Amino acid sequence: MRDDERTVTGKGQAMGKNHLIPVYGRYPVTLSHGQGAEVWDDNGKHYWDFLAGIGVNSLGYRHKRVLAALEKAQSLLHTSNLFWHHPGIDLSNKMAEITGGYLSLWVNSGTEANEAGIKLMRRYGKSVGRSAILSLSNGFHGRTMGSLSATFVSAYQDPFTPLVPDFHEVEAGSITALEEALNRFHPCGLLLEPIQGEGGVVPLPPGYLSQAVKVAHDAGCLVLIDEVQTGIGRSGEWFGFQTEKIEPDIITVAKGLGAGIPIGGMLAKEEVAQYFRPGEHGSTFGGNPLASTVALEVLDWLATEGLDHIRKMAPVMENTLRLLHQEFPDLVSGYRGQGLMWGLVVRTPATWIVKEALDQGLIVNAPKPDVIRLLPPLIIDEEAVDAFYTIMTKVLQRAEK
Ligand SMILES: Cc1ncc(COP(=O)(O)O)c(C=O)c1O
Repeated sequence: MRDDERTVTGKGQAMGKNHLIPVYGRYPVTLSHGQGAEVWDDNGKHYWDFLAGIGVNSLGYRHKRVLAALEKAQSLLHTSNLFWHHPGIDLSNKMAEITGGYLSLWVNSGTEANEAGIKLMRRYGKSVGRSAILSLSNGFHGRTMGSLSATFVSAYQDPFTPLVPDFHEVEAGSITALEEALNRFHPCGLLLEPIQGEGGVVPLPPGYLSQAVKVAHDAGCLVLIDEVQTGIGRSGEWFGFQTEKIEPDIITVAKGLGAGIPIGGMLAKEEVAQYFRPGEHGSTFGGNPLASTVALEVLDWLATEGLDHIRKMAPVMENTLRLLHQEFPDLVSGYRGQGLMWGLVVRTPATWIVKEALDQGLIVNAPKPDVIRLLPPLIIDEEAVDAFYTIMTKVLQRAEK
């Protein structure tokens, strides 16, 4: 990356070159504050945020519930996990109520939640003489060495080989491929996302999840559903897998759960969770009182009003995307998704659309060269969707020229 690409813009330009390790391709915008689904940069420019910090700002910016939770948490931000604290106990109880009894282990991010899940599956594997882990092609599970080993994208994996041994890729959506891999590797665990978010908002074929869980269980293999992006209401249900009747052994969550405060969770059925013995896993910060207090508030918002709101807004988003597809058939080839997680499939380079949208005051991103991803705050209303439509229409009209 060139030096001049590394400088920050806006007022921040006065800082000149920065000292951040350049692992991110950042947009030339320095954000300064937000409200609801709107955010401003340090030049005062306004944006509608349809990315929400990549699905993290679930309640948007400065939501009164989040502010109140932050206020409440001030008396005890952190304790270490050598002690009990009420927000942590309450959060796990609430999650057990939502999942029908799963036990939880709190960490700080999605990759750590998956890492914990991988370790738990390996721990089970140790007791039955298995170590192989399967995951699907085009999936994304994170960047730590374990979750990276389950993320079969060569651009992410190749610079860091050798990876953790005995991870194997299985073609997404094919039960035959899964059965072959189960017979060949005798794995202890399988990881999959119900909708592949980083993979371009690609849902698994209907029926695949139930069949996959059945054949995996028949073969003695645990199933971890990665709900880091799809979970906590994003799909219109608590979890993305709930379009099918399945009982995963492990569910991982993160992103929107903390509404901006880092928290991830590895939720496991009680009989699976018991494979971990005291001292075998842990995290200094994981589920501290601050993160737990905010996460509890997010879950309460979802239970009392959020899920209904998301289900009301999902068709509004879908209709808007349908309209864009109808109005710009040469540029938009389709759309896919669920709840408030959508991908607009485009025939013109998605990165151009993202840049143009940013210029026009709309934040979206492009996980694939032909997909615009929409992960708006879960609190969006009709006004926000109208604004999205107006700006996207302008962008697509410019692309036509
Ligand atoms: C499905 C999925 N799993 C795991 C992760 C990794 O989460 P994090 O970036 O919080 O480590 C992501 C992040 O995008 C994700 O979408």
